[in-house]
Amino acid sequence: MAFDIDMIKAVYAKFPSRIAAARKAVGKPLTLSEKILYSHLWDGDANTAFERGKSYVDFAPDRVAMQDATAQMALLQFMQAGKPTAAVPSTVHCDHLILAKEGAKDDLRNSLTASGEVFNFLESVSNKYGIGFWKPGAGIIHQVVLENYAFPGGMMIGTDSHTVNAGGLGMVAIGVGGADAVDVMAGMPWELKFPKLIGVHLTGKLNGWTAPKDVILKVAGILTVKGGTGAIVEYFGPGAKSMSATGKGTICNMGAEIGATTSTFGYDESMDRYLRATDRADVADLANEIKEHLTGDDEVYANPQQYFDQVIEINLDELEPYINGPFTPDRATPVSKMKEEAEKNGWPMDVEWGLIGSCTNSSYEDLSRASSIAQQAIDKNLKTKSEFGINPGSEQVRYTAERDGLLGIFEDLNATIFTNACGPCIGQWERSGNNTRVNTIVHSFNRNFSKRADGNPNTHAFVTSPEMVAAIAISGNLGFNPLTDTLTNEKGEQVKLDPPVGSELPAKGFAVEDNGYQAPAENGSSVEVIVKPDSKRLQLLEPFAPWDGKNITGAKLLIKAFGKCTTDHISMAGPWLRFRGHLDNISDNCLIGAVNAYNQSTNSVKNQLTGEYGPVPATARQYKAAGVPSIVVGDHNYGEGSSREHAAMEPRHLGVKAVLVKSFARIHETNLKKQGMLGLTFANEADYDKVQEDDTINFLDLVDFAPGKPLMIEFVHADGSKDVIAANHTYNEAQIGWFKAGSALNLIKEESKK
Ligand code: F3S
Repeated sequence: MAFDIDMIKAVYAKFPSRIAAARKAVGKPLTLSEKILYSHLWDGDANTAFERGKSYVDFAPDRVAMQDATAQMALLQFMQAGKPTAAVPSTVHCDHLILAKEGAKDDLRNSLTASGEVFNFLESVSNKYGIGFWKPGAGIIHQVVLENYAFPGGMMIGTDSHTVNAGGLGMVAIGVGGADAVDVMAGMPWELKFPKLIGVHLTGKLNGWTAPKDVILKVAGILTVKGGTGAIVEYFGPGAKSMSATGKGTICNMGAEIGATTSTFGYDESMDRYLRATDRADVADLANEIKEHLTGDDEVYANPQQYFDQVIEINLDELEPYINGPFTPDRATPVSKMKEEAEKNGWPMDVEWGLIGSCTNSSYEDLSRASSIAQQAIDKNLKTKSEFGINPGSEQVRYTAERDGLLGIFEDLNATIFTNACGPCIGQWERSGNNTRVNTIVHSFNRNFSKRADGNPNTHAFVTSPEMVAAIAISGNLGFNPLTDTLTNEKGEQVKLDPPVGSELPAKGFAVEDNGYQAPAENGSSVEVIVKPDSKRLQLLEPFAPWDGKNITGAKLLIKAFGKCTTDHISMAGPWLRFRGHLDNISDNCLIGAVNAYNQSTNSVKNQLTGEYGPVPATARQYKAAGVPSIVVGDHNYGEGSSREHAAMEPRHLGVKAVLVKSFARIHETNLKKQGMLGLTFANEADYDKVQEDDTINFLDLVDFAPGKPLMIEFVHADGSKDVIAANHTYNEAQIGWFKAGSALNLIKEESKK
């Protein structure tokens, strides 16, 4: 069940009555986000108004998408749930496990050898359980979803934080952990705290060098990496309507970088055009029939301050291109200030690589606009100073771009065309040269955390639009401003690049020979799924032990993480991706990127049993072997970044019982809950400073664990003194049930048996 027009019909049939009921219950006009949410309530009863930012609500998403790195664990879990097929249309996309090195042909072949076992596993599980399978090389999950499955007003979840990309076609699409995907595929409700709503009013029209990417780069600068937490960002206004659907996708995609639950746009003609261009005129026709329900009410957009929790105004006429970074996507610098900013901060000015691609910016429009800059370099006798790499978003985009000569233009500039896959964006990049030198790269991706692209902590990665990547790569200079600066060509002349031009959609239509899709078996009951017992890559799961009903006592502090601790710090990607289906093996990367607050080092913590300093995973394993529970303490926005539940499963597997932090990123907090962990926050943030390296930790009232009631935790210091601190939590009754059962999956299994 991969694509189902009847499913979309059934979803749309519910819209009018549910939206009318919700409008009455809420007592005011509705935003698009509310319309979609109320139309997807699990129990169908839209007669109750939910409190934004407070109410936990059960939803019924329309579909599930999984990428190869996270699908392994999701499907290993789903196999445990005892269901014959996925309950909603679901797909698997092989895009993360493909190394970028020489170029598409060799890289794909090498990856099929290196990760064949995993691809075969995913293919056979998909075949067995009615899940659509997109082969390696078919494309990046979010581009493929936008091209094939996203539909206006739909609700989907995906095991990747950039699932939010589908907001470009007016969906509420949310990145989750594998455990959430298991719930939905198992036919269970999916729970979400009813989000707050941020409205972004776009006036004017993009022009010149400015691209949709610049909208979100600016928003990221305004809201920072935490500013969207717990909120849906809804874009509206004439500026929104003037952008292509894939451009809207770019903006929604990077909503993940501001922590937003998701982002979305109201249905408009750009979506109609995109649906028809991607062979879904039937969906466009259905959407047109109910289009007033697929956008916010007029009154909402006329007086947004009254209906959104926060409103941001952006005039696209005045928007400048932005370059964000290094090391964080919210450090936003307009191109006109970049030279000064880079010099002030001592950022390396020479740009070694320009990379175009990732789920954020790899559409036909992106390639066509960037190639118009590349063509100018050829026409104006300019040579690219930086190396150039391109990852097309899908085989359909690649095939069409090749047919239309776009890829040829890049190749004329010696660009390497990598596989239609994530590649450098997820650290799957075998970059030549030493990997500690200080250097700068620019890319059109979404994330630029330290080490993300190439594993080098000294690579200064900057995020910008594909057309700006092209311009900067041609100049080889981070401070180059194509709006004002000239370049010296091979004849010694001063030349200026003209603003990019491109096509929203291919004039001759999309084309493809083999899009890389494989439908599942009609009846998969006889399909055998093989996991070799001695596999290094895959391991069948054992259920986590249920809570023993007692207070956790005598726990040791495993690490007090200092500062930023993203899911990349907790469960690094790059080379570790190969163990995503093997919990014990991947646990050897547990928290190795987190900075120990006591010595400011990574992967060096005090083992309280020996007094020695050692790696985090080895220390945790020693505690576990000795029957000593452990806890992790962290700073603000702990677990920001991706949705990978490995960041929760690994500490759980290694005997960590609780993670106590100043604040959580939403997805990670939920993942901890799903895996039966305690995810807690300091009631008083200053208590973070009371935690000492040699502490022994006792929970005082876990036996009374209840919604809304803080837990009291005693920290016994080495000198015998104690601090008792209060820890808040957001567990509701059902989530406390997960904790008690050992994990949410344990509860699903019990349900399946009934
Ligand atoms: Fe892949 Fe990077 Fe997107 S890893 S899914 S291209 S954020």
